[in-house]
Amino acid sequence: METSFTTREANWQEEEQLIYQIRLTVFVIEQGVSQSIEWDGVDDSCRHAISVSEDGNSIGTGRIKQSGHIGRIAVIKAWRGKGVGTALLNQLINIAKDSQLPKVYLNSQTHASNFYSQHNFIAEGPIFMEAGIPHQRMSLNL
Ligand SMILES: CC(C)(COP(=O)(O)OP(=O)(O)OC[C@H]1O[C@@H](n2cnc3c(N)ncnc32)[C@H](O)[C@@H]1OP(=O)(O)O)[C@@H](O)C(=O)NCCC(=O)NCCS
Repeated sequence: METSFTTREANWQEEEQLIYQIRLTVFVIEQGVSQSIEWDGVDDSCRHAISVSEDGNSIGTGRIKQSGHIGRIAVIKAWRGKGVGTALLNQLINIAKDSQLPKVYLNSQTHASNFYSQHNFIAEGPIFMEAGIPHQRMSLNL
């Protein structure tokens, strides 16, 4: 199984379809998130990250809003546990630093909270429901 990949900022205008396919596979098909929630109309104003395997397949994505709100981090199943999620998170944090944001934050699905705590995000406030999935707000000072 191939494990080599690269992660970089995506060009949303040119790579929208690649990102769409990853999010469709992970959030809509695997997790059952409704299409109306997934496609929330703010992608155009976000900056996006993408991971691509050595053989050219798009395997992961994530986005950050101008406010510092990170979200939609998704890695296709076969590639989980190989550092792709970490690389995407670091890319989005670097975008935030580049924009001189003081802080980034996200709403973590609770099953993924350990993933974000490993990257020094701190939980804030109570667990709440979003898209039928329990979430925890978490933040990281830059
Ligand atoms: C959560 C997710 C993005 C992590 O991506 P990944 O590529 O597997 O992450 P990495 O390989 O960089 O790191 C995995 C580490 O996170 C930890 N972790 C905690 N919760 C996890 C979870 N739900 N899934 C995978 N890893 C998780 C693992 O223990 C692992 O640590 P280790 O390397 O010390 O064993 C990925 O599992 C995913 O896309 N899940 C489905 C979509 C989703 O739930 N997204 C998050 C929305 S908030």
